[in-house]
Amino acid sequence: MSNNENNGKQPKNDEPILRIMNLRKTYMQGKIPVRALDGVSFDVKKGEFLSIVGPSGSGKSTLLSMIGLLDKPTEGSVFIDGVEISRAKESEAPKVRREKIGFVFQHFNLLSTLSAMENVDIAMRFTGVPKNKRRERAFELLTRVGLGDRVNHKPSELSGGQQQRVSIARALANNPAIILADEPTGAVDTKTREVIVELLRGLSERGQTIIVVTHDMDVAQRTDRIITMRDGMIASDISSGEKK
Ligand SMILES: Nc1ncnc2c1ncn2[C@@H]1O[C@H](COP(=O)(O)OP(=O)(O)OP(=O)(O)O)[C@@H](O)[C@H]1O
Ligand SMILES: [Mg+2]
Repeated sequence: MSNNENNGKQPKNDEPILRIMNLRKTYMQGKIPVRALDGVSFDVKKGEFLSIVGPSGSGKSTLLSMIGLLDKPTEGSVFIDGVEISRAKESEAPKVRREKIGFVFQHFNLLSTLSAMENVDIAMRFTGVPKNKRRERAFELLTRVGLGDRVNHKPSELSGGQQQRVSIARALANNPAIILADEPTGAVDTKTREVIVELLRGLSERGQTIIVVTHDMDVAQRTDRIITMRDGMIASDISSGEKK
């Protein structure tokens, strides 16, 4: 009898947190089909800090919107934590999105009339967490991104980099499986870019999975792995080897 240590069972940690299988998305431009994604497959491990690069129109944002359940693929599947989210019903999508995904945008997308604290709090409003607990968590997250002394500031009273840090705290609010960031450093200066990338790197070192779309090769080079898209397909997929 063979002595199989774990009865063939894989420890859960070996399972990818994200699995993309043969993803296709065709948009109709009038009568002309545009293949925004043309058969994309890859796995992402928990805690991986991944960047997606490629020319304008190569399908990066389309890919992110499939992973983030903002749109449905024409074909193929997206699994997050073993669950096929691309099969989620329209009515379930907001809940799945809220629980599994944190979004970070180029232009922060903060609510201008709310304080930093309220902007983070509001991400948790439909989760059943009581208000005092939400406030506590918002404060803790803002402290984690270095804004513990700015919690009552409105977006207009914060710098671009600080606003982006608020949006990262907001993205973390519901402890998502994955953070998706589309050009998170696209609207900030070089010095601030460093702060944002270091912050994201720190989060990934603590186990947060992060996918960044960027045009900036300096940002991409600081991630663990670079996927290059071309014409809706993966042109290359390069890992930097050992996680730094
Ligand atoms: N809603 C849509 N309707 C029709 N075509 C679309 C739509 N969204 C994207 N496309 C097309 O799909 C292709 C991929 O677009 P996508 O936005 O994913 O590119 P991208 O890599 O994010 O580009 P960029 O770097 O400019 O942001 C493009 O040819 C684009 O014109
Ligand atoms: Mg884009």
